[in-house]
Amino acid sequence: MEKKDLEWGKLGFGYIETDYRFVSNYKDGAWDEGTLTKDSQVVISECAAVLQYAQTIFEGMKAYTTKDGRIVTFRPDLNAERMISSAKRLEMPVYPKEKFIDAVCQTIKANAAYVPPYGSGATLYVRPYMFGSNAVIGVKPADEYQFRVFVTPVGPYFKGGIKPLTICVSDFDRAAPHGTGNIKAGLNYAMSMHPYIECHKKGYDENMYLDPATRTKVEETGGANFLFVTKDGKLVTPKSDSILPSITRRSLVYVAQAYLGLEVEEREVFVDELGEFAECGLCGTAAVISPVGKIVLHDKEIALPSGMNEMGPTTKKLYETLTGIQMGTIKAPEGWIYEVC
Ligand code: PLP
Ligand code: COI
Repeated sequence: MEKKDLEWGKLGFGYIETDYRFVSNYKDGAWDEGTLTKDSQVVISECAAVLQYAQTIFEGMKAYTTKDGRIVTFRPDLNAERMISSAKRLEMPVYPKEKFIDAVCQTIKANAAYVPPYGSGATLYVRPYMFGSNAVIGVKPADEYQFRVFVTPVGPYFKGGIKPLTICVSDFDRAAPHGTGNIKAGLNYAMSMHPYIECHKKGYDENMYLDPATRTKVEETGGANFLFVTKDGKLVTPKSDSILPSITRRSLVYVAQAYLGLEVEEREVFVDELGEFAECGLCGTAAVISPVGKIVLHDKEIALPSGMNEMGPTTKKLYETLTGIQMGTIKAPEGWIYEVC
């Protein structure tokens, strides 16, 4: 299979239309078989539940070319499970786990020419999503839904690649207590647009959101969970019911313990203790692990000892081990890597 002629090394995190996407429709209480199509357009009612009341959920995952030329994806079973919990919270039908994994693999395989080559620095981003598609004007769930998967080749999520970021503590909240912060729903991202623009206007890369109830604890950013490293080398990651259960973070916790022999604490992280950490990073499918060099809390600046030039040593080891597992140069734990073709 011949790869597309793209400048893989220059890709940013943007959308490039590829050849195929997967579409399945839900009607009269059942999903159809689903199929791959070349048509990238979605045509729905002007009154569709997704357009009026934001009844939409999504997932984010990646496909990689391994050193020996296989195309693989990472823990799609966990994305399938998370999408099921998102669907239940928004009263949407469940897209079954096995069908989800199959749809993802079919879409990646059909677009194999777009999976960036090993070592190019780029990957194939995979976006499964589902939305209420029939007309709904009273506030209630749709009866008809569409599940789709598209893919797009991407480079680093943050412009500077792995240059440390400066983040600011937001005065806005991302999620309410007992709200929807722990699911991957479009509504959580719509509300983050204004804080995101405000933070960029001030010259920062991202927002750090705090817990909405007490505003004393670290939650996450608009698109990634936090990791911290203590001065004595422990990995600390915030525990909260209103953050997205990141698959990257859960994988890194395992990697830290089982591969790097690090002690890990999943616990509440207070804003007051930010000055005590040695390293900080953002983790997620898109972000992979992006190091944070500085955290700004109103007029107070917290400079991480790892500095503004490179990743801290523990963050780097985590990054190299995780990406090694994903790209097939380091042996993966059982069941983490799904071979697509
Ligand atoms: N938190 C938020 C709000 C996200 O959008 C994402 C991205 O999916 C993550 C965390 C990271 O999750 P994952 O590692 O499963 O991609
Ligand atoms: C991902 O990491 O997959 C996400 O969905 C984050 C998004 C903000 C791009």
